[in-house]
Amino acid sequence: MKRILSCMQPTNRLHLGNYLGALKNWVALQNEGAECLYGVVDLHAITAGHDPAELAQSTREIAAAYIASGVDPKKSTIFVQSSVLAHSELMWLFSAIAQMGKLERMTQFKDKAGKHKERASVGLFAYPVLMAADILVYKATHVPVGEDQKQHLELAREIASTFNHKFCGGDEFFPMPEPVITGEATRVMSLRNGTEKMSKSAESDMSRINLTDDADLIAKKITKATSDPHPLPDNIKDLEERPEADNLYSIYAALSGKRKEHVVKEFAGKGFGEFKPALADLCVEKLSPITARMSELMADPAEIDKILRAGAEKANTLAEPVLKEAMDKMGFWRP
Ligand code: TYM
Repeated sequence: MKRILSCMQPTNRLHLGNYLGALKNWVALQNEGAECLYGVVDLHAITAGHDPAELAQSTREIAAAYIASGVDPKKSTIFVQSSVLAHSELMWLFSAIAQMGKLERMTQFKDKAGKHKERASVGLFAYPVLMAADILVYKATHVPVGEDQKQHLELAREIASTFNHKFCGGDEFFPMPEPVITGEATRVMSLRNGTEKMSKSAESDMSRINLTDDADLIAKKITKATSDPHPLPDNIKDLEERPEADNLYSIYAALSGKRKEHVVKEFAGKGFGEFKPALADLCVEKLSPITARMSELMADPAEIDKILRAGAEKANTLAEPVLKEAMDKMGFWRP
């Protein structure tokens, strides 16, 4: 049976990379009829310092962004990680089999910890183990994410395989979760530098398009996006040496639902002066309904809370038996 699970952290606002790399695909999978669980991973969000006064509201905002983007709470389960305790408990069990050396090689940890590794929190270091628990506590089979999560998914697969081997005699108690990294924009880059990922934490807000930006701001950010002086190419190969142009084309392709090769043909020989306004219009056309729906939803936090409570109930029903069974496999005494 196919079971989809994916999550986002409630740190700052969601941006175009989150939408194109993940959310848009979540909606497509839901609409294909798959069983889907989408979490807001607040326990992950506390690993690099957070403001307690904002956490609950940011959590609601991410849930609102899911719904505004097309995740339907009647079809998919939307839940908050900290309301399903089995995630943390399974994480502890996994932390006994996850290897320090593997965690040390995680590029996200290296990026986030920076030069002062010894001052990073244990939570930031162990973060991918919790992510493995998020996935495996539901025995999820498919995980739609952006390319940056690939390494974490590999670790989750290794943990599943080690657990199956050590405690289940090689039976597939935990399925091997498959990453689903699809679409034309699996790694959306910064609008200021085509070699850096678009991210929530980048200093310049001009480097990303937030799902809460209005039409004028979106147009301004795209107009000011770093580009190059050459005319636009007539074949996709010529984009290889032009990261900024490549990124803008990927965004256009993903938003319009066209293949990148087709977009290249459409704008061949033209300049950024013509392409950028078309891209800005497309962004506004696709994102403004999401932004508008998000603010409607945020005006009624009680309704979001109701959806999240129902999601927690469903998620707990699925996760608790898996945790109990995993504990049995590991030989724990149980009352
Ligand atoms: P997070 O919150 O950083 O990002 C959420 C999702 O957005 C994708 N993404 C991007 N895709 C394309 N281009 C970009 N520039 C870009 N930036 C972000 C991410 O790949 C992700 O799919 N560790 C995860 C959260 C997590 C999770 C999980 C995901 C925790 N547990 C279990 C899946 C399953 C993270 O930090 O995502």
